[in-house]
Amino acid sequence: MVPYRGQWKILSVGLLSIALALIGPTPAAAQDEEKPYVIKDGVVDWYTFSGFRRYHAECHVCHGPDGLGGSFAPALVESLKTLPYDEFLEVVVNGREQVGASVQSKMPAFGENLNVMCFVDDLYAYLKARSDGALGRGRPKKQPKPQEARERDDACMG
Ligand code: HEC
Repeated sequence: MVPYRGQWKILSVGLLSIALALIGPTPAAAQDEEKPYVIKDGVVDWYTFSGFRRYHAECHVCHGPDGLGGSFAPALVESLKTLPYDEFLEVVVNGREQVGASVQSKMPAFGENLNVMCFVDDLYAYLKARSDGALGRGRPKKQPKPQEARERDDACMG
């Protein structure tokens, strides 16, 4: 069981920073040991596959296929080498904008988009697997969808 799965649900856009302060930093050691994905003989767990699908529905137009980056937005395969889960979550929920003299780039806020937020941990698992070099490009082979995932999706999507 991955400790942070579902953690976003207790956060709301306005309360995010307070909530993060209450949760406190995740110990680095725990993050090192616990991988958010399982890949066995080239077959990924359902959640990681779900992340692949959601990524290519919601994020790839800006961030490029397979997390490799595009002309609009950075390569998340690179970002996740250093970006911790909490900060990933923060950017996805609230978005981010940088306006400069020559550059203007905008990451939209997805905090109220269930098609993203219900699967944000799947997105993280997929992108982390890509950034760790554990998963190649393209559509991965997947494990069947477990009952637990069905229940989770139903509960979240309503
Ligand atoms: C409309 C284009 C667009 C879409 C769609 C989009 N992003 Fe972004 N994203 C950006 C831009 C532009 C940035 C860089 C923002 C900045 O300069 O601070 C960014 C930054 C990020 C970052 C921070 C990267 C870093 O290196 O700090 C993360 C994480 C991220 N996006 C995740 C996602 C995820 C996950 C999705 C899909 C649910 C998504 N984005 C969809 C445009 C987009």
